[in-house]
Amino acid sequence: MRRAVCPGSFDPVTNGHLDIIERASRLYDEVVVAVLINKSKSGLFTVDERIELLSETTAVYGNVVIDSFRGLLVDFCRAHEVPTIVKGLRAVSDFDYELQMAQMNHSLAGVETLFMSTNPTYSFLSSSLVKEVATWGGDVSHLVPPTVMVQLRERIKL
Ligand code: PNS
Repeated sequence: MRRAVCPGSFDPVTNGHLDIIERASRLYDEVVVAVLINKSKSGLFTVDERIELLSETTAVYGNVVIDSFRGLLVDFCRAHEVPTIVKGLRAVSDFDYELQMAQMNHSLAGVETLFMSTNPTYSFLSSSLVKEVATWGGDVSHLVPPTVMVQLRERIKL
């Protein structure tokens, strides 16, 4: 069974994330979306809320499971026997750090990283910008799934 992991903070999941997760789900038998638990960085949504939003929005793909992890991604990969990481690349600015992480993860545990070019529709999109724009009253409804928009409105009191 071919498995891959899509790791990230997903605070919250955006249409850009879903584009990559969906395309990965067509290439692999199972895709594990792994939410980073970062104690030193509190998000807008709790890890449980992020998992819930991811579960709702990826259920339609049929072969995507949601999990969380703390510590090194390669330890998660080893523990769950996932040999491949799938990452979306939005722009050249993503590339330097992503390449570094891919090479580090390969040197630590032989885990491969597959880079997928982001759909140009979402090349400017990030969870941080979604939160910032939404906080100041900007319309982000075309950039996140409807269920996330509902939660964003509630959280930010739009
Ligand atoms: O959505 P993000 O915040 O850009 O995702 C970054 C993430 C979670 C993929 C990255 O920070 C990560 O893999 N963190 C786990 C810790 C780790 O393995 N660090 C070493 C990387 S070489």
